[in-house]
Amino acid sequence: MQPPQAREIFSALINDALRSISSKCASNVASGFVGLAKDEFLQAPKTRHEVYVRERYDRVPIMDKSPKDLENARGTPDPFMERGIIKGRYMSDKHANLTERQRRELEYHREHAKQHRSILNRPFSYDVIYAKKHSRWWNAAWEMYSFLNTQELRNKKVLVVGCGFGEDALRLAKMGAQVEALDLSPESLSVAKELASREKLQISFREMPVETMDYESDIFDFVVARDILHHVDIPAAMNEIIRTSKNGALFVVNEVYTHSFTDRIRHSAFVEKKLYPAMQSFVYEGEQPYITEDERKLTEKDVAEIVKPLKKIVLKKHFNFLVNRVAPDKYDFLSKIDRAILAATNPIAHILGGRVLLGGVIEKIEN
Ligand SMILES: C[S@@+](CC[C@H](N)C(=O)[O-])C[C@H]1O[C@@H](n2cnc3c(N)ncnc32)[C@H](O)[C@@H]1O
Repeated sequence: MQPPQAREIFSALINDALRSISSKCASNVASGFVGLAKDEFLQAPKTRHEVYVRERYDRVPIMDKSPKDLENARGTPDPFMERGIIKGRYMSDKHANLTERQRRELEYHREHAKQHRSILNRPFSYDVIYAKKHSRWWNAAWEMYSFLNTQELRNKKVLVVGCGFGEDALRLAKMGAQVEALDLSPESLSVAKELASREKLQISFREMPVETMDYESDIFDFVVARDILHHVDIPAAMNEIIRTSKNGALFVVNEVYTHSFTDRIRHSAFVEKKLYPAMQSFVYEGEQPYITEDERKLTEKDVAEIVKPLKKIVLKKHFNFLVNRVAPDKYDFLSKIDRAILAATNPIAHILGGRVLLGGVIEKIEN
């Protein structure tokens, strides 16, 4: 089955529109615009470090923590740590070789996982793997599975990098793949392992950075990277992904993205200095944003780096022109319009889009 074309998307939209013209829709739209400010604000750089990272197109880790911050960060020793204090924090030997950026990511995601262990109290959903193809064509995660469902995964070796709580690892294992999954954070992996054991799925989890994996070379048939590459050193991660993949393996990427042209608007003085501060109290509403100090959306340059070793691109779609920038993604009707705009403007979707879904065949060049 072919992906829905712009005409079908528009006719689906018109049908939806007729069904949804109601006060509920109006209030959704209003709330959508309220969400704008919020989401866009949350994605803005919060610290001098983050601005620096974005401006310099990164790679050089720097600490902008004062000695007092480090002193405060010391706090109570973490029960997961074995011994040693590195740069003012308790770190295990295992973490001694991490870069500063990886350490900050690790700290952030350890805490994040501790605060979200309640995910274990909820039933695990396999909806995406059993859904009809393109049933939620406006959503990148569902479209990723629409694509993965077309692949023969049974008994194939699949690597999930930066697996977090293991959702993709579990779903791919349920689809019959032999899954290996890695993450920096032992607390996230502990949630993932508990979920896998509860769901009676055999998955091998390892704690390590994607930039320096300890898997053998040439073993994976598929590699899945969802919302991880924007946290890492992309060239180093790509080297490792290529090394561990077989020639002809399929690489699937689903990541937050912004074209550098669009990014310049987001980081304009007016938006950063006037608009966001003016909206700050309204925007936060006491919520903790899920954004690490070093993360940065992929740009077209990162995408070029990612597709360099791919001999054939089999999937490329952009999502989230306005959704997750000026409106939350919980309103399907807005999301459909949003994706329809990107489908209709496909040649410039890479400039407008806020998320990219990519699939490509890895070509390994023999030395
Ligand atoms: C935004 S979460 C995404 C998790 C999962 N892929 C998902 O979509 O739910 C990013 C994950 O990347 C992990 N991470 C960050 N930097 C990493 C690195 N250098 N190597 C491996 N994992 C990393 C974090 O611990 C975190 O679990």
